[in-house]
Amino acid sequence: MPNWEELERLCLGCQKCALADTRTNVVFGKGPRDARVMFIGEGPGENEDLQGEPFVGRGGQLLDEMLSLIGLSREKNFYITNIVKCRPPKNRDPLNTEQDACIGYLWEQLELIRPRIIVCLGRIAAIRLIKPEFKITREHGQWTELDGVFYTAIYHPAALLRDPTKKPDTFADLRAIRAKIREICPEVYG
Ligand code: URA
Repeated sequence: MPNWEELERLCLGCQKCALADTRTNVVFGKGPRDARVMFIGEGPGENEDLQGEPFVGRGGQLLDEMLSLIGLSREKNFYITNIVKCRPPKNRDPLNTEQDACIGYLWEQLELIRPRIIVCLGRIAAIRLIKPEFKITREHGQWTELDGVFYTAIYHPAALLRDPTKKPDTFADLRAIRAKIREICPEVYG
């Protein structure tokens, strides 16, 4: 099992799938390595590929604004990453083969960080991390516990930008996330 620096070095040099050929930067993740709360999206978009940091485009700005309302910031108290670490061309969904090639990096990140709460951003992450038949419209905001880790999913920020009528549901889900943090790992809020 690599330590954090080794894992990051391996990931930054990864050639396990064809996304390596078209990427500008590998987007490993951002946030404190001892975060109790982790947010996981599907894969980097154009801005993320250019900057090497997850969720830095319009969707990411919206996400940061919403999370600041429940006292969360990537500088302080959550870690954010993606299922695949390189941008799929034209922002298509990552293929299962690409996810399979990449997911080991996420498993190692989870082993090293050991978060208590995992929030999937959108259906691709929820399908991969919660259950294959996950339905985001029906099941966002619901909690699943596995080995003491609490999983939930909220709408992807890009979906909120496309359809702002989904925002009230997401604010309700975020309030529930804040309540779960206070219950399970109140130290997040110092
Ligand atoms: N969408 C994602 O799923 N992840 C990012 O990092 C950016 C956009």
